Amino acid sequence: MFDVKNYIRQNVLKLESYSSARDEFGSEASVFLDANENPFGSLNRYPDPKQTRLKQRIAELKGLYRQSIFVGNGSDEAIDLCFRIFCEPGKSEVLSFGPTYGMYKVSAAINDVGYSEIELNDVFQIDFGTAIDRLENSDARLLFLCSPNNPTGNGIVGIEKILSAFKGIVVIDEAYIDFSDEPSWAKRIYEFPNLIVLQTFSKAFGLAAARVGIAISNPEIISWFDKVKPPYNVSSLNQDAVLKRLIDVEKVNSEIEILKVEREKLMSALAEIPSIEKIFPSQANFILIRIDRAESVYEKLIDLGIVVRKRTSQIPNALRITVGTPQENLSLIQTLKQIT
Ligand SMILES: Cc1ncc(COP(=O)(O)O)c(C=O)c1O
Repeated sequence: MFDVKNYIRQNVLKLESYSSARDEFGSEASVFLDANENPFGSLNRYPDPKQTRLKQRIAELKGLYRQSIFVGNGSDEAIDLCFRIFCEPGKSEVLSFGPTYGMYKVSAAINDVGYSEIELNDVFQIDFGTAIDRLENSDARLLFLCSPNNPTGNGIVGIEKILSAFKGIVVIDEAYIDFSDEPSWAKRIYEFPNLIVLQTFSKAFGLAAARVGIAISNPEIISWFDKVKPPYNVSSLNQDAVLKRLIDVEKVNSEIEILKVEREKLMSALAEIPSIEKIFPSQANFILIRIDRAESVYEKLIDLGIVVRKRTSQIPNALRITVGTPQENLSLIQTLKQIT
């Protein structure tokens, strides 16, 4: 049976975590002389280290228990915490399916943890013929699976098989799930004790500047995240920014719908450009294309004030294009027509 304690880094198992002033006293008072704050000013108080209101609201919205949610300084913080909680530096290994989001590799390197990618096939799906055997025989602590995948844009098929084959912790990164037709794995955390789902407010909720991301898992796993995180990891400004946005979820949903329509329009317009060799299907708010002389197209676009993401280091001749406003998308199409 899966026991998360077998996967916790030895020093973390013994950790007595820092108890901040606001951890010890979190309720109402008229005089606060406990946290060495400045009595003057409007941002003078430390934020709620437990992010209680924000977690409560997210939990309501997602139909989860508040205790199943960790709130981080972007989901990048949650990724880094996965390494710091579950991996032994210099010893542990982690796996992912590549090409994928670059931070898994970078966080592994920062934490001195071995990182390998199982190659996705030519349509960026899992090749189960080889993957299952590799996963069943792996001692890796973590497996990162990004779906919809960045930079390829597609949703990954057959995740359930992966969950049964791999005995370590499976981290499904759903940064782009709100743009997808597939359901989230968030509600299934109670079924799989080794599952962590990452989501972010940076994409569909339009709050990249606020740096707020979440990890969703069973309360035992989440309690380890809360033990290891810095006490005040999400500022009051940022917690409030998300709470404010969550007042009007209908508006967020209508913006998502607009972006999905724009994504399809952009795909059709890109299909008219002869130098584009391939447009990959997307369940995200970006489109991956393969284009003749991608590096030179990328430079020319920059010269004309348009920046897309060069992904040629991961996939030959690949550029990743974020779906913008109708005007921005039009401007990209017109410019591509001029320069290619
Ligand atoms: C797949 C994926 N995961 C996580 C992140 C990080 O998101 P955040 O802004 O919440 O740190 C990104 C950002 O681009 C991403 O593409």
